[in-house]
Amino acid sequence: MDANTRRIGVTVLGSTGSIGVNTLEVLERHAGRYRVVALTANTDVERLAEQCARFQPEFAVVAQTERAAELARRLRDARLDTRVLGGTDGLETVAALEQVDYVMAAIVGAAGLLPTLAAARAGKRILLANKEALVMSGRLLMDAVHRHAAELLPIDSEHNAIFQCMPLDYAKGLDHAGVRRILLTASGGPFLDIPLERLAAVTPEQACSHPNWDMGRKISVDSATMMNKGLEVIEACWLFDTTPDRVQVVVHPQSVIHSMVEYVDGSVLAQLGNPDMRIPIANALAWPDRIESGASALNMFEVAHLDFREPDLSRFACLRIAYEAMEAGGAATTVLNAANEVAVERFLEGKLPFPEIPRVIERTLAAVAAGEADSLESICEIDAEARSAACRLTDRGAARVQT
Ligand SMILES: NC(=O)c1ccc[n+]([C@@H]2O[C@H](COP(=O)([O-])OP(=O)(O)OC[C@H]3O[C@@H](n4cnc5c(N)ncnc54)[C@H](OP(=O)(O)O)[C@@H]3O)[C@@H](O)[C@H]2O)c1
Repeated sequence: MDANTRRIGVTVLGSTGSIGVNTLEVLERHAGRYRVVALTANTDVERLAEQCARFQPEFAVVAQTERAAELARRLRDARLDTRVLGGTDGLETVAALEQVDYVMAAIVGAAGLLPTLAAARAGKRILLANKEALVMSGRLLMDAVHRHAAELLPIDSEHNAIFQCMPLDYAKGLDHAGVRRILLTASGGPFLDIPLERLAAVTPEQACSHPNWDMGRKISVDSATMMNKGLEVIEACWLFDTTPDRVQVVVHPQSVIHSMVEYVDGSVLAQLGNPDMRIPIANALAWPDRIESGASALNMFEVAHLDFREPDLSRFACLRIAYEAMEAGGAATTVLNAANEVAVERFLEGKLPFPEIPRVIERTLAAVAAGEADSLESICEIDAEARSAACRLTDRGAARVQT
């Protein structure tokens, strides 16, 4: 498709979230190149209505159907002719529209799976922020991408960095490409050095105060437990067709190097930049070109030095559990993702102490027979079973700690 003759049509799934807002900033900067076709939210109709006024998309979707009428009323009052859709069907529709070329998959959690699959089946360029879709159904999503000649470009800053450091023909296999290992960097989050005995008392606000990144609440808690890095190990295995033993997590508290690729000749290529999600977003939107993202240039003199440490798996049990789930294969990562979502939600509600998060996940993995993750039906069934098991376990965990 020629960007000079037609603007590239973009759907932003999860436009009201942190990644969604950053994406719209980059798109606005390049309004001559991109056209916003559809925007979506879960419940935040106020922000979605503002975004519709600013970008005048053809479609807006509210996942919680009962809030769709309110958005329609706001848009009517503003004399906008954006069409309002509701529910998962609406999300799937706007991910697969003919006039859409690129789909930013930035819904948080398992709710992003169906629209991301719809985009893959419609052969779109998918800019994947929603790592949970790959974690819960890596085989299914990758098969759909290959079968329908879709493109999958990573938005996670680490995977986007790896993508930038990989040779062009990496899809033929890492051995063929001369790649020995992926070095996945991790900031370590807000609790990297906090004494372990203080973890039981940490609040959701403390867990959401990431030292380097401003993100949504769920991924912020995932960063604090380092489950985010565990999910990213799994994501890297699917994206770059490799195994967990070839993905080494490297704690790098400054978040300046976003990840590295180690080659068989001993070379290590790294991608550096300020911690600003507009950089990977602009990279994936424009690839193979480069466009301005709005991020400030990295000042190496201010950075001055870079630190690296091995991850402490006794402090960050979630990272160990994620490696084990990926090694177990099948639907173990589906169970892992579901249990983590439940445990994080309860923690954010103030109903589960922080150190219980890995315990709930580990017990859910032991309680649910994961089986194979070979169809959407089986994945949805296992996801539902894992969620109910995790709910029972979180309630028990919360009760035990309160008594
Ligand atoms: N933030 C980052 O810097 C970052 C970096 C790398 C990867 N990611 C990944 O990107 C994804 C989005 O993260 P985020 O930080 O942008 O999250 P966020 O700020 O919480 O935004 C989530 C978005 O998804 C929508 N949403 C939530 N639940 C939904 C549901 N059930 N159905 C449909 N839409 C739903 C939200 O709508 P409402 O606003 O209406 O709730 C919002 O638009 C996550 O998978 C995360 O792991 C984020």
